[in-house]
Formats: sequence, C-alpha cells, structure tokens
Amino acid sequence: MDGPSGTGKSTVSRRLAIACGAAYLDTGAMYRTVTLAVLRAGFEGDNPKAEDVAVAAVADIRSVTDPTAPAILLDGEDVESEIRGPEVTAAVSAVSALPAVREALVERQRTLIADATGGTQGSSGGIVVEGRDIGSVVCPDAPLKVYLTASEEVRAARRGAQDRKAGRDGDLATVLADVRRRDQLDSTRKTSPLHAAPDALVVDTDDLSVDDVLAELLHLVHDRGLVS
Ligand code: DC
Repeated sequence: MDGPSGTGKSTVSRRLAIACGAAYLDTGAMYRTVTLAVLRAGFEGDNPKAEDVAVAAVADIRSVTDPTAPAILLDGEDVESEIRGPEVTAAVSAVSALPAVREALVERQRTLIADATGGTQGSSGGIVVEGRDIGSVVCPDAPLKVYLTASEEVRAARRGAQDRKAGRDGDLATVLADVRRRDQLDSTRKTSPLHAAPDALVVDTDDLSVDDVLAELLHLVHDRGLVS
C-alpha cells in the first residue's frame, strides 16, 4: 500500500490486515524512528553525519507487526508517540532520501515480509505493508499493489484532524504547507521517489470513506484468492 501522507493509508492498511488475519508493517514509522535517532544524536536531517547515525540505528529498531497493537521500539523504548511529533515530521524527508538509509531499511523490511509470508519463521498469514516504495521497490512481486491518492486539501484536512486528536497543533495552513513540502521532497528525491508502480491499482480517496476503501480492497483480496 503506497501513497502520500493523509490518504488514509495507515487506517486502511491496519484494518485490512485485521480483516485478513495478516500482519501489518508501517515502513514510514521505520523512517521516522531512524530520524529520531539522528535528532537525538544532535544532527539535522541534512547533516553529512546523519546517514551514518541513521544506518547504525536500523539495528536498534524493532517493529511489532500485530495490526491490533502495532508498535515501534528504538533500543527497547516505545517511540510511537514521539516519532509523530513536529520535529521528526520536519526532518524525516531529508533522512529518508539518503541512499544508505533506504538500502538498510529496505533489507530489514524484506526480512519482516519474508517472515510473515512463510519465510524463515513460518507464520504465513501474509502481511499488509504500507509506505512510499513498497510496490515499486521493496516488494515488486506483491500479489496486490494499491496506490492511494487524494487531493492536497483533503489530505491536509485529514492530517490536521489526526494531529488534533493526538493533542498536537493541527492548524490547517501549517499542515497544508507541510503536506506540500513533504510531497515535493518525497516525489523528487533521487532514490526510490514516491510514484505508483505500473501495476498498482490507483484509488482516489477524495470522496471515499475509510469503510468504502476497505470494502473495495477486501473485494479485491478475495477476488484474487489471497484469503480463503
Ligand atoms: O507515512 P509517513 O508519513 O509516516 O512517512 C514518513 C516519511 O517517511 C515520509 O515523508 C516519506 C518517508 N517514507 C519513505 O520514504 N518510504 C517509505 N516506504 C515510507 C515512508
């Protein structure tokens, strides 16, 4: 499941995973967590040392892939709430554009996916993975690729509502500016820019509720025989 922020990706992905008895992996949380490690080390995202710190931090990350209680740990500490804050959000695009960071995280993501799909540890309920480059780079052979989109305004309104619900400042103009800035950075970076894989199903969610999107995806999942 790929697409820019504010398209409902996380909610839809989690609910789809629960409905299918699959695992769930939020790769954005991984990029956010290595960014947190960079900031804690005292660097900005565009500092030349950021890449080394972020790559080293990959070994200290643990993703909990249970869709009913997803979590991300950095050195054993639950950082779920901190990685959604404004400092990490402002720095994450720069860190996630660094090629060595992407390489290290993509490798980790592929291992988690292999584990959830009958690989080394044998649980075989499948996995719903969300991010920006899942269908295009991480999992080019995924049996179902979905790319969620929505207009900037709708995405900013959703992000703002999410922020306010979590007790953060969700001022619309600020959120819209941030959505635009991150879209620009994420879709123009050299390594794995955000784009829909050629064989992805593109779903415009402007006029669709989460329930609508979920119903469409469940239909597809059953149609393709991905769950019994
Ligand atoms: O989904 P999110 O907003 O939590 O993602 C945070 C940032 O991480 C986003 O600005 C782009 C980056 N990201 C990425 O480059 N590749 C991914 N697979 C997931 C996220």
